[in-house]
Amino acid sequence: MRFHVLTLFPEMVLQGLHTSILGRACEQGLIAIEAVNIRDYTKNKHKKVDDYPYGGGAGMLMQAQPVYDAYKAVEEKIAGLNKEKEGENELATANKISKPRVIYLTPQGSVFSQHMAEELAKEEDLIFLCGHYEGIDERVLEEIVTDYVSIGDYVLTGGELPAMVMIDAISRLVPEVLNNDVSAEFESFHEDLLEYPQYSRPEEWQGKKVPQVLLSGHHANIEKWRREQSIKRTKERRPDLYEKWKEKNK
Ligand code: ADE
Repeated sequence: MRFHVLTLFPEMVLQGLHTSILGRACEQGLIAIEAVNIRDYTKNKHKKVDDYPYGGGAGMLMQAQPVYDAYKAVEEKIAGLNKEKEGENELATANKISKPRVIYLTPQGSVFSQHMAEELAKEEDLIFLCGHYEGIDERVLEEIVTDYVSIGDYVLTGGELPAMVMIDAISRLVPEVLNNDVSAEFESFHEDLLEYPQYSRPEEWQGKKVPQVLLSGHHANIEKWRREQSIKRTKERRPDLYEKWKEKNK
C-alpha cells in the first residue's frame, strides 16, 4: 500500500513515520510513504504558496496552483506505477483505473474511526492533503478532494499530525505489518468493544496479583473472562460504544 502526503513540512511526516513498526514495514516494502513538498510546485518566483483571503479576515490561505500541480504530479506518478504493474497482472490494472482517493484533513470532515481505517486499508494508493495557515483555496479542494476527514473535534495547526495518525492506524491493518496476525483482530473496537486488561510477569507486583483465571491454563474460561472484562470496561469507559454494542447484540 502506498501513502502520498502533500505537505509544506515533508520532513515532519517522514521523520514521524519512518520509525518503529512503520519504519520496518517500509523497509520490507509492505507500505511506502512519500511526502511531496507543495512548495516545490509553486510558480511564484519567491517560492510563496499563500496569500490573503478575498473579502478579508485573519491569516493567509494556501493558493490553488501549487496544491493542484503537486497533486497532478502524484496522480501521474501513481498512473505510471500502475502501468508498470500492467505487465505483471493485466486484470488487476484494469480493475484499478479509478482515481486514487484524496483525503483532505480538516476539522470540518467526517470523524476518523477504526471502521474508516478498515475501509481505507483496502486501497492501493491514498493521497493526503495537509493544509496550513487558515486553510486552502476552496476551488482546488472542489477539484481534487474525495474525502474530508477530521481526527476529532479540536483544531490543530495543520493537517500533518492528522495525516500521520491516519497512516499509522491504516498501516497496521495491512497484512504482515504487525508481527502476529491476530493482534489487529482482537483489540479495542473489535466488535465495538474495548480490549480486556492484560498482565505480564511477575505474578505479583506491589501486592497486586494477576487474576487467577489467567494462570489456570483453562482456555475456555480465559476467553469467557476476557469477554466479560471487555464488556465491563466498555460499559464503564465508553458508555456510547457499549450502547452501540448492546443494540447490535440484542
Ligand atoms: N486540521 C486541523 N485540525 C484538524 C483536525 N482536528 N482533524 C483533521 N485535520 C485538522
